[in-house]
Amino acid sequence: MEANLSAADPDIRRFTHDDLPQIRQALIDVHADAYASAMDDEFNQRFPWFVDHWGGNPDFVCVIAFDGEEPVAFAYGAPATPKREWWREHLKPAPEKHLTFSFSELAVRTTWRKTGTAERVTRALLEDRHEDLVVLLVDTEHPRVQAMYESWGFRKVGDRQPFPDSPLYVVMLTELPLKPSPRNGPGSTLPTPDEPARPGGPYD
Ligand SMILES: CC(C)(COP(=O)(O)OP(=O)(O)OC[C@H]1O[C@@H](n2cnc3c(N)ncnc32)[C@H](O)[C@@H]1OP(=O)(O)O)[C@@H](O)C(=O)NCCC(=O)NCCS
Repeated sequence: MEANLSAADPDIRRFTHDDLPQIRQALIDVHADAYASAMDDEFNQRFPWFVDHWGGNPDFVCVIAFDGEEPVAFAYGAPATPKREWWREHLKPAPEKHLTFSFSELAVRTTWRKTGTAERVTRALLEDRHEDLVVLLVDTEHPRVQAMYESWGFRKVGDRQPFPDSPLYVVMLTELPLKPSPRNGPGSTLPTPDEPARPGGPYD
């Protein structure tokens, strides 16, 4: 693939719930491109419903990377509902500091892959969050995507299938703020599933 010379410098813009009408189609278009090879999957075809569901949350936040006026990548999420966090059934006892941000979706147009844009929009989304933790779900059949999140400091805490027709997901968790890149799992002090927090860790 030809090097994308503007790739190092996409224009990162931030949006909220109020902006949903303006950004809705951009999210759907980037998602359709990013998942082009998997759009025969009915679950992926339901993405507009998920955009409206997440975007309908008053605390929804979204970051979109633009090449000129073309949206090329996005990351979005919202604060998790207390007691219903995706990690909740897997970590007992719950971490002491457990205010959680749910990182719902990340997608990069195929022509913008391997440019650092995925990490850039992720860090922009998460950099000013006040929560203690960020949780996400990744398809158990996409181990390379899981490895990407591990390289940013996330680690697996369990599996979860939120809907009968959804894939089985790996639940991944890390602390906020994200550690600077490159950063790998061993730096994390989160308790592992079925294992109490280590003495001296942040949850004692
Ligand atoms: C995941 C994504 C944002 C990463 O973008 P990136 O940082 O530019 O990195 P890549 O596209 O090279 O992806 C990283 C690795 O995951 C793999 N991968 C990416 N999306 C994948 C998918 N949907 N299914 C299976 N593997 C996938 C890539 O093949 C790559 O593997 P490699 O390291 O062996 O080359 C981008 O690939 C994308 O938008 N994918 C489709 C949407 C998606 O899966 N989002 C994640 C939801 S949890």
